[in-house]
Formats: sequence, structure tokens, C-alpha cells
Amino acid sequence: MKILMVCLGNICRSPLAEGILRSKTFLKGVEVDSAGTADYHVGNRPDKRSIGVGAKYNIDISNLSGRQFSVQDYDNFDLIYAMDNSNYKNMIALARNEEDKKKVFLILNEIFPGEDLDVPDPYYGGAHGFETVYKMLDQACDAIVEKIS
Ligand code: 4NP
Repeated sequence: MKILMVCLGNICRSPLAEGILRSKTFLKGVEVDSAGTADYHVGNRPDKRSIGVGAKYNIDISNLSGRQFSVQDYDNFDLIYAMDNSNYKNMIALARNEEDKKKVFLILNEIFPGEDLDVPDPYYGGAHGFETVYKMLDQACDAIVEKIS
């Protein structure tokens, strides 16, 4: 099982989602990666505030490196989670067929089915926003682990 977490910049939300899900699945043969729909932060480390909130909960994401989502990701992953509706739409626009589209889900629908909620983009806010994002992703990743096990 290969799972991809996707946000806009791949420096705030999706690297945290990657680290959290990996920590919950490391014994289960699940591969986890993350990407951004934009190319602004390709090759960059996660935002210091994401690294910080991860460290607080023993999740080390300090060595991750930003990359951009590409259409090949549809071949390489089984499940692709969008952090928000904008990421979702951008990925669906790149899908080549229905099979690709069926791999893409909004991550918060795992805990609030059918509500189509966004993980709020914490980039322009303070540390509190990163704590909120962490808690949402932690719950959503618990639900993902339940779903795939
Ligand atoms: P992310 O947050 O999508 O959760 O990584 C953002 C990071 C950077 C930018 C926007 C959102 N930016 O505009 O550079």
C-alpha cells in the first residue's frame, strides 16, 4: 500500500501528514510520501513551525524535502490525500482517467465523511495554527490506519 499526502507547498501540512501516518504504520508495510501541487518549495525542508509541532509529538520531519505532485504519482500510489479542496481540484484536473480520479480523497472526509472540509493552510498564521493542523491530521491518520488495516 502506497499513500501520498498532498498540499499546496509541501512544506506545512502534507509533510506533517506524511510523518504522522508513517509513525502509525511503520510496522505494516505501508509506504508514505508527500508532495505539493505548486513548485514554490521544491527541494526545501518543511517549515520550521511544522518541524516544531512534529518534534513536540515525537514525529521527526526535519529531513523531508519538498517536491511537486506529478501525473506519474497516479501510477505510483494507491491512495492520494488532498489537504484541501483546492489541492483536490488541482489534482483531479491532472487525472488522465477515472481510475486516477478514484485514488484522490479529501483527508478530512476520513473523520467528517461527506463534509468536504479543508485542513486550514497555516502558512500565514502563528504556531497555534500548526497545533490545530497537527491534531486534525493525527485524527485523520488514525482513521486511515483503521481503513487500510
Ligand atoms: P502548505 O502551506 O501547502 O501546507 O505547505 C503553504 C506553504 C507555502 C505557501 C502556501 C501554503 N506559499 O504560498 O509559499
